[in-house]
Amino acid sequence: MTTKIFRKKIVCIGAGYVGGPTMTIIANNCPDYQVTVVDISEERINAWNSDQLPIFEPGLLERIQKTRGKNLFFSTDIDRCIEEADIIFVAVNTPTKTFGEGEGKAVDLQYIEQTARRIKKNAKSNKIVVEKSTIPVRAAETLANILHSGSNSVQFEILSNPEFMAEGTGVEDMEAPDRVLIGSKGTPSGIIARDTLMEIYLHWVPRERLVTTNLWSSELSKLVSNAFLAQRISSINTIAALCEVTEADVTEVSRAIGMDSRIGAKFLNAGPGFGGSCFRKDILNLVYLCEYYQLPEVAAFWEQVVALNDYQMERYVKRILQAMFNTLVGKKLAVFGFAFKPDTGDTRDAPAIYICKQLLEERADLNITDPHALDNARKELQGIEGEVSFVEDPYKAAEGAHGIALITEWNLYQELDYQKIYDSMEKPAFIFDGRNCLDHQALYEIGFNVYPLGKPPLNHL
Ligand SMILES: NC(=O)c1ccc[n+]([C@@H]2O[C@H](COP(=O)([O-])OP(=O)(O)OC[C@H]3O[C@@H](n4cnc5c(N)ncnc54)[C@H](O)[C@@H]3O)[C@@H](O)[C@H]2O)c1
Repeated sequence: MTTKIFRKKIVCIGAGYVGGPTMTIIANNCPDYQVTVVDISEERINAWNSDQLPIFEPGLLERIQKTRGKNLFFSTDIDRCIEEADIIFVAVNTPTKTFGEGEGKAVDLQYIEQTARRIKKNAKSNKIVVEKSTIPVRAAETLANILHSGSNSVQFEILSNPEFMAEGTGVEDMEAPDRVLIGSKGTPSGIIARDTLMEIYLHWVPRERLVTTNLWSSELSKLVSNAFLAQRISSINTIAALCEVTEADVTEVSRAIGMDSRIGAKFLNAGPGFGGSCFRKDILNLVYLCEYYQLPEVAAFWEQVVALNDYQMERYVKRILQAMFNTLVGKKLAVFGFAFKPDTGDTRDAPAIYICKQLLEERADLNITDPHALDNARKELQGIEGEVSFVEDPYKAAEGAHGIALITEWNLYQELDYQKIYDSMEKPAFIFDGRNCLDHQALYEIGFNVYPLGKPPLNHL
């Protein structure tokens, strides 16, 4: 048996929602590179080495099966992989700090720092270190200071290469990205490192989609990109509130304004609020940075995007409470969808967490259903007081319920037999379509009292 000689060895530290999929796409497209994803969590690595992947992402398993064991590997042997690698991607988590200075806003950089120290300890030859994690602007400076401290003669070139994929469409986003952003120093060694990383992406990404900038612009662009996306959601959600009291219809307003090419049609759907592990965390990080650099007005502007998101989730719960005669005590509510968006099992910072907690505070009994997020939903609500059941089958979840709260727009909820559901529910039966993804007129005709978001209700009462 001959051992394949690879052109370069890549290691990615952090086998999460970003590390696993991004490295799979690189391995799929670059058979001449050896790609190893490492993590401190043995459980995660074992899952990546099985067909029960630790995350649900459409199309991912097939791509992993194509390359795993050939040029794609998952391992816990972090030290050896660092030593052997030419290029090291850092994709560890960067959560919001929950303690001390900057608590609730600043990024907790402990995992980045631990990773940097481990790289420094094990590197015996020059390395390119690529920031994949989302980090504060100028974090590369901290990374460089740690890596180059002491007497080690190894040279590290740091690049910023933030990830823009969205969960649920991660595979498509990475196979045909809008752009790949690479930030580097302008020094000769910085340019060589940048070109080395570009060579990888050029295996499948057209040259014109590779955007190169200085390090700080690249780091900041990732935060700004998420802030702008979240800002659009908060903006349209404020208009949804106004529509509900004026009999305007937020879907019609979105369509009308989205046809203006300066505004664009995407990301203009009103909903119960944005979620996911990134938006809130990255905006709060931006707010913290603005405060740190003494720009309080700029900080206040971006903080409002998060405040409005909280307001929207509260509003959704209040609407349910008011419609259902101002009491939910002992009433059964079916919650359709818990993931923060469809086609993922990820529930981190999902609006469903806040909404379910509030509904339980009102002493409603909840039957939560979701095709891929029930295990995570259980973890998110662990220890919370109240009556909660987790039910695979949406028909069972709705049986005997007084109302349905649709929080995640999984396709399957649009295809259900709502007559059958209505027949099995308590009357009057309510449905709160937090995503405006159902046929409201048809539901009304069946007998439901229908509460869309950002539109007047269709009410029999
Ligand atoms: N999830 C997304 O959609 C998304 C998109 C773009 C960018 N990002 C950013 O990418 C980064 C990673 O996000 P994620 O969602 O993949 O996080 P994640 O929590 O799913 O994965 C991070 C992994 O890093 C591992 N880890 C932590 N410290 C380690 C260490 N010292 N050595 C080895 N492994 C270590 C953890 O065990 C975990 O498996 C974050 O900065 C995030 O903001 C995430």
